[in-house]
Amino acid sequence: MDAATIAINQRMNKFDGHDQVWLFGYGSLIYKADFPYIERRPASIAGWTRRFWQGSHDHRGTPMAPGRVATIVPQAGAVCDGMAYLITPEVFAHLDHREKNGYLRLATDITFDDGGKVEGLVYIANEENAAFLGAAPELDIARQIARSNGPSGPNSEYLLHLASALRELGKSDPHVFAIEQYLAQLQAPAQDSTAAYPGGISADAGLT
Ligand code: SIN
Repeated sequence: MDAATIAINQRMNKFDGHDQVWLFGYGSLIYKADFPYIERRPASIAGWTRRFWQGSHDHRGTPMAPGRVATIVPQAGAVCDGMAYLITPEVFAHLDHREKNGYLRLATDITFDDGGKVEGLVYIANEENAAFLGAAPELDIARQIARSNGPSGPNSEYLLHLASALRELGKSDPHVFAIEQYLAQLQAPAQDSTAAYPGGISADAGLT
């Protein structure tokens, strides 16, 4: 399946002949730009909403215990905020590999926050890909994220980096922020008897 996704993306010839292409990122591509770019600008795409509905077997989980990462799904009237990068076509080899677990390049209109519109590309993982997990209650998504780990690190790191990157951009995303809040609750230390001792005396005192 990985190889198939890469091959399909390589056949995407919409921007053949262009020496620069705008790429819209809405997930880890917002906060982890591990590729060269000419310019980047906060931007959005209309008619799409961000959802933690894609399974991650390769970055934030494993084939036996997939994590959950972001994809976008169509929703009338919605706007998905993110970051647009102006890149050269050579960068797609790296991106196709990075996004190989089910993401396909799709042409989209990108609107820059500071004005203007351009046609560019976005990687989306739709329900037809084998790693797609689909909708679930946000608390269940948080539980899955809390317990998942993969070669790129803990799944929680992905969610937390994305939430803070959105805040830095001055953007709100109720779905992402709700999962973040559930995650904080799940990861909060359990209340125990030490809470009754404001001085912090506990059985572990002196062991650090
Ligand atoms: C994206 O960030 O635009 C795609 C999904 C991801 O890599 O997290």
